[in-house]
Amino acid sequence: MSKEPHNIPSGNGVPRHVAIIMDGNGRWAKKRFLPRVAGHKAGVEIVRQLVRACGEKGIEVLTLFAFSSENWRRPEKEVSLLMELFITALQRESKKLHENNVRLKVVGECGAFAPRLQDEIAAAEALSKNNTGLTLVVAANYGGRWDVAQATQRIAAKVEAGELRAADVTPELLETHLALHGLPEPDLFIRTGGEQRISNFLLWHLAYSELYFTEILWPDFDARAFDEALLSYAGRQRRFGRTGEQVEQSPGA
Ligand code: IPE
Ligand code: IPE
Ligand code: MG
Repeated sequence: MSKEPHNIPSGNGVPRHVAIIMDGNGRWAKKRFLPRVAGHKAGVEIVRQLVRACGEKGIEVLTLFAFSSENWRRPEKEVSLLMELFITALQRESKKLHENNVRLKVVGECGAFAPRLQDEIAAAEALSKNNTGLTLVVAANYGGRWDVAQATQRIAAKVEAGELRAADVTPELLETHLALHGLPEPDLFIRTGGEQRISNFLLWHLAYSELYFTEILWPDFDARAFDEALLSYAGRQRRFGRTGEQVEQSPGA
């Protein structure tokens, strides 16, 4: 069996897939003596700008962490305001996204959301499912541990049913059961807001992503800040386990 990580992202120019933890909305609002939700609203505006920038740069996939499985622990009021914001954003933006050839995909345990939100998600996904431009993945009620566990459950069910043998369970097989299956692995991971942690985001997928942390709070993360992250990415050497010399001799090998 090949020892190469599958799905090796190509080159080091523009990343194919960028995954972002959009953090710092609350602190942004606090600095302005505004309620936290004002930060979330300003954050939605940044998402709009970034989606446009990704389209222009030819980035194939943008994955955004919108709500973690742990964010239910926040005050009830903030959670319900976030849900409202999510619904409004879907209603307002899905037509525009569709017109811009963006394919929307929501990953996470959506069954936990109110039926109205689930309907909006399903409608927005259905509307844009055949689009061929940027794939915008929104991770909502998503947790990296949940993702690995749900994949494992589905594989175990197949083993129980006699469709698979335990020995068939390889990393490649597991990957095909994860929520982001079919998309290239994230080349670049960005977290705004100054914290340097993963917070149960894409645990499996970040194995070989380049990590970029910035102090900039999410509502201030404009196109220029994004360009800086892309510049940092472009200057890195991705080795995937090989030596630097090997990579220099045959970059794409
Ligand atoms: C990220 O901003 C948005 C969500 C988690 C929904 P935060 O709300 O976590 O902002 P800070 O970290 O409190 O500043
Ligand atoms: C991560 O941010 C989740 C999202 C951005 C949706 P948090 O603000 O929830 O992360 P922690 O709690 O600081 O680790
Ligand atoms: Mg936070």
